[in-house]
Amino acid sequence: MSKDLSLISTEAPHRRPAVEGVLVLIGMMGVGKSTVGRILAEKVGAEFVDTDQVIEERIGLSIKSIFSQRGEGYFRDRETEVLADALRCSGPLVVSVGGGAVGRPENKRLLNEANLVVWLRASPATIWSRIVDSVDRPLLERGGLEGIIALTHARSSDYAEVSTVVVDVDDLDIDRVVADVLKCWQEL
Ligand code: S3P
Repeated sequence: MSKDLSLISTEAPHRRPAVEGVLVLIGMMGVGKSTVGRILAEKVGAEFVDTDQVIEERIGLSIKSIFSQRGEGYFRDRETEVLADALRCSGPLVVSVGGGAVGRPENKRLLNEANLVVWLRASPATIWSRIVDSVDRPLLERGGLEGIIALTHARSSDYAEVSTVVVDVDDLDIDRVVADVLKCWQEL
């Protein structure tokens, strides 16, 4: 008896892509780490940690208020704590970290423990166009576009040092970035 092939679906719509371990998204402000991280985590059924969001929840203040009331050093200490906590998980977990986290040697050591660190890389012009109207990015107040250009160049070697993979996001929409990052994770 021949099978009615029309009843056999080749799709598995409810099956989630299999991934393991901890994936960390790094890169400058505005490159889409939080948005990509959230969508990706949901797609694969992983936990999601946005370090800035966890810091705001723990302290009960916005990032901007933490910078102005307690100083950047205080913020950076909390950032290291949250990153260390997140990296204790075995996964599957997606972590999106603030753009400046790579500046600390201790954070670089922590990032080394992740299974995959993806640098979402964008040009200063792209970054600027995405964050120019942002109200909760204290570093924006330190020099406008010139400041972003300087910061992007200053941090590039740190991003390169800690990342396993680079995804250039200038010309990509969010869905494409999610798909590219997922592919890297699945190929681990
Ligand atoms: C910062 C980036 C911000 C936030 C804080 C400092 C930075 O996070 O952690 O304002 O030093 O680049 P995003 O990269 O998510 O904007």
